[in-house]
Amino acid sequence: MKQIPVILDGDPGHDDAIAWVLANSSPKLKILACTSVCGNQTIEKTTYNALRIMALINLKVPFAMGRPRPLVGDPIVAPNVHGQTGLDGPKLPEPAIVPLSIGSVELIAKIIEESDEPVTIISTGPLTNVGAFLLLYPHLKPRIARISMMGGGISTGNWTPAAEFNILVDPEAADIVFRSGVPIIMSGLDVTLKALVFPEDFERIRTLKNPVAIVVAEWLDFFYNFHRKLGYAGAPVHDAVAVTALIHPEILSSKDLFVQVETTGDYCRGMTIADRLGVLGQRANAKVITGINRKAFVDVLIKAASNYGKDNNG
Ligand code: BDR
Ligand code: CA
Repeated sequence: MKQIPVILDGDPGHDDAIAWVLANSSPKLKILACTSVCGNQTIEKTTYNALRIMALINLKVPFAMGRPRPLVGDPIVAPNVHGQTGLDGPKLPEPAIVPLSIGSVELIAKIIEESDEPVTIISTGPLTNVGAFLLLYPHLKPRIARISMMGGGISTGNWTPAAEFNILVDPEAADIVFRSGVPIIMSGLDVTLKALVFPEDFERIRTLKNPVAIVVAEWLDFFYNFHRKLGYAGAPVHDAVAVTALIHPEILSSKDLFVQVETTGDYCRGMTIADRLGVLGQRANAKVITGINRKAFVDVLIKAASNYGKDNNG
């Protein structure tokens, strides 16, 4: 099978962690490198979490730490959602590798430059690293196959009424990405609020009994505990949709739209605005995922977790 070469860039984060578990278990993807970004927690904490996740799933690829701050604004963290560590819940193994001495942007450039074929970036946090990469290495744009990102929403926000967390943290970086001309798959709140994993699904994962599956179930317990209080019927595993868009696009529906990012404004900073009626006459710059077969998504996660019970994984 021809594999899709990818770089994982995220701010783990419970749903980032599950996204990485999913990516690492798929024979359709070849993970070339991982990078951390500040978002759910400080860069030190998301970096430590990323390395612990990699140790858990036995993912040994080059890793570099991201920038300590968004491009322009101040960091925003989300301890209410992900805990003080950014990945509260089950005990995880200590890191098995150390970050490279170069930063995330340099590592992304190196990997893309050295790859025989265009590389896909899977972004599950603020777009700080990706935006900085596009600014600093514009000549490498044609070497990016696509950016599959979790962020934004064309119908609602979650951190403000207008803005989704990842875009709100670094709207300037998101603006660079959406203006870049690189193909974008946008898994925003339009789909990820439907990507719900219910408590009975957690049990199906837990009963797989392998060490990774047990941790995934416990991450879901923690993540759902926050969302339950807000009235959610399950845990919205936002970031795993950005991986699903590459490995199981058949369970998703989408619209090609022209999307812009609001970087100013009293109420709407970080909003992603889609020209649904085509009033601007611009060519679509993003495949906006809008729908998901929830049960099939749960089955994809369960299959991924079950793979870690086999010898070659985890
Ligand atoms: C996004 O924000 C973070 O808290 C999650 O990890 C996800 O990437 C959802 O708005
Ligand atoms: Ca995330």
